[in-house]
Amino acid sequence: MGGPAVADMVRERVEPIVPLTPPELPEAFDRSAPPAPLATLEPPEPLIPLAQLVATAAPAAGTLATVPVAEADILISVDGLCKSYTRDRPALHNVSFELRRGELVSVIGPSGAGKSTLLRCINRMIEASSGEIVFAGQDVRKLRRKDLRTLRRRISMIFQHYNLVHRLTTIENVLHGRLGYKSTLAGMLGSYSEDEKQKALNVLAQLGIIEFAYTRTDQLSGGQKQRVGIARALVQDPLLVLCDEPVASLDPKSSRVIMSYLRAIADNLGITCLVNLHQVDYALEYSDRVLALRSGELIYDGTPGDFSDDLIGHLYGMSANEELVAPPFSLVPERLSA
Ligand SMILES: Nc1ncnc2c1ncn2[C@@H]1O[C@H](COP(=O)(O)OP(=O)(O)O)[C@@H](O)[C@H]1O
Ligand SMILES: [Mg+2]
Repeated sequence: MGGPAVADMVRERVEPIVPLTPPELPEAFDRSAPPAPLATLEPPEPLIPLAQLVATAAPAAGTLATVPVAEADILISVDGLCKSYTRDRPALHNVSFELRRGELVSVIGPSGAGKSTLLRCINRMIEASSGEIVFAGQDVRKLRRKDLRTLRRRISMIFQHYNLVHRLTTIENVLHGRLGYKSTLAGMLGSYSEDEKQKALNVLAQLGIIEFAYTRTDQLSGGQKQRVGIARALVQDPLLVLCDEPVASLDPKSSRVIMSYLRAIADNLGITCLVNLHQVDYALEYSDRVLALRSGELIYDGTPGDFSDDLIGHLYGMSANEELVAPPFSLVPERLSA
């Protein structure tokens, strides 16, 4: 199938490349103004049913199945998921759970419990050994190249170390979230439409970092970098955001800012967030539900309210008291400039 690809490339080549130059900032914009209040993300009014969202939000590819209305609430179901890297004990063993639309669910558990493995199996960064993952009506493990690309557009990721290109500006990093929608050539040329740039700026404004749109990301504090990471995840138009230890490198204040934004994304945008966390206290405070992994097994799936001290002890093999005051929850915070 060389023909269409070449035609696409030619079409992309003649499209004008829009330079990334700063727009005029609004009159009222004040660089010395205090940061925007938290959780200001505006919901799209009204919240669109999942079935419609899946059918309409990715019209170009359109390969994601429309889920029946009766199941519209369930975004993803994981059933009997197993992953073995070696012949030793599996990293994940028979893990099953469901995520609903607009839920913020934390995955907690000690280091090596399988949290990152779980996230990576969901977007097929790694291949599970067995089990089923159904995302928006599609059997994730059976998807072939093109459909996998479509799937990955709708599942974005946020990382502990941000994964930004530091020599690029904030907006350039955010626009990288659109790469899954482009041909390789268009992506390499950095050719983005006015709509895409406007969308990126809107998201930055909503996250309170519009003033850094044209700043190189190596100039930003850790908390600001993670907000760029969130913006990049949002311009992807995701249905699900996978967050692997998003606050593990941040001080407590910045961590709370980031957790509040994740909460707002779930509540106001209806985007499901699955968040790996070392910090049990954040998981209990910000999540709708908590999944606890121990040695690759899911030992708890329930509300923060039902989560007991005994369970913390069982999970980490220490007394609850020890857990709440000592590592592994409090990792060394990154020194922030701002
Ligand atoms: N690429 C890999 N190859 C072999 N073993 C791995 C690999 N990645 C992770 N593991 C092992 O799988 C288990 C789960 O790891 P991981 O998912 O990273 O846990 P967590 O994110 O909870 O710290 C660990 O025992 C880890 O050593
Ligand atoms: Mg991990």
